Amino acid sequence: MNATDEKNVIVTGAKKGIGHATVLKLAQAGYNVWACARAFDAEFEEELAKMAEKYGVWIEPVYFDLSDEGLTKEAIKGIISEKKKIDVLVNVAGTVFNGSFAMTSMTKIKEIFEVNFFNQIQIMQMISRSMMRKRNGVIVNVTSVSGIEITEGKLAYGSSKAALIYATKAISRELACYNIRVNAIAPGLTDTDMNKTISEDEIAVVLNRSSLKRMAQPEEIANAIEFLASDQSSFMTGQVLIVDGGRLWC
Ligand SMILES: NC(=O)c1ccc[n+]([C@@H]2O[C@H](COP(=O)([O-])OP(=O)(O)OC[C@H]3O[C@@H](n4cnc5c(N)ncnc54)[C@H](OP(=O)(O)O)[C@@H]3O)[C@@H](O)[C@H]2O)c1
Repeated sequence: MNATDEKNVIVTGAKKGIGHATVLKLAQAGYNVWACARAFDAEFEEELAKMAEKYGVWIEPVYFDLSDEGLTKEAIKGIISEKKKIDVLVNVAGTVFNGSFAMTSMTKIKEIFEVNFFNQIQIMQMISRSMMRKRNGVIVNVTSVSGIEITEGKLAYGSSKAALIYATKAISRELACYNIRVNAIAPGLTDTDMNKTISEDEIAVVLNRSSLKRMAQPEEIANAIEFLASDQSSFMTGQVLIVDGGRLWC
């Protein structure tokens, strides 16, 4: 494959869960990856190096905390300054908070929005400028069924994911003329660290409402991300692909 045929992708939340499965899936498919994580980790770097060698791609670790606007901006500037084409951006990183309306402080709501919304918008703005110049690009945002279904105790998280769904659709409208597609994945319960603090009873209630009656494995969500990142979904934009084991919404 020569350099112009190669595809380069940015994946946030790359160290674990869905983001990690996405890096692996896309590296296997031949993508070069900027694997973004919150903080330096030697083991992570070692693993990425092995993965890159195994699949014949480059994988570059990039570190920034999405709760910090300045650090996020600097890191994305760093990627852009490499002057490599950026074909795909996958915003996977996200943070959860469960708490009732009455018990969720404004500080907490702002904190959740900083990570799940504001800085993801900032990344999309910066990266899409580079994609616009090339008149080509794909953005995939990982939202959640919590951004669609109204559940008690999910005010901060659910609103942030609903906002990201709105942004996905709105941005898809504005970027279509630059040949940039923007879609979202809305996973249901997935077997990652994010759900480690939820009780088995709570998990059972959610799973009982789905047809497949099990959590997704991170790879199953990564499969859907790969689909939206690839030309296989070339006629899709502004869509939210629900990958939830069949919760059946109406
Ligand atoms: N698991 C589910 O049931 C589920 C369902 C629907 C949607 N989702 C969404 O799927 C995405 C991935 O979550 P997951 O299930 O894979 O959970 P996870 O294993 O907990 O992974 C979350 C990832 O986001 C990163 N992250 C969190 N806060 C960050 C920050 N301030 N700065 C930079 N990175 C940050 C984490 O980095 P660190 O490694 O540094 O912590 C981690 O890599 C999230 O957007 C989540 O909302 C998950």
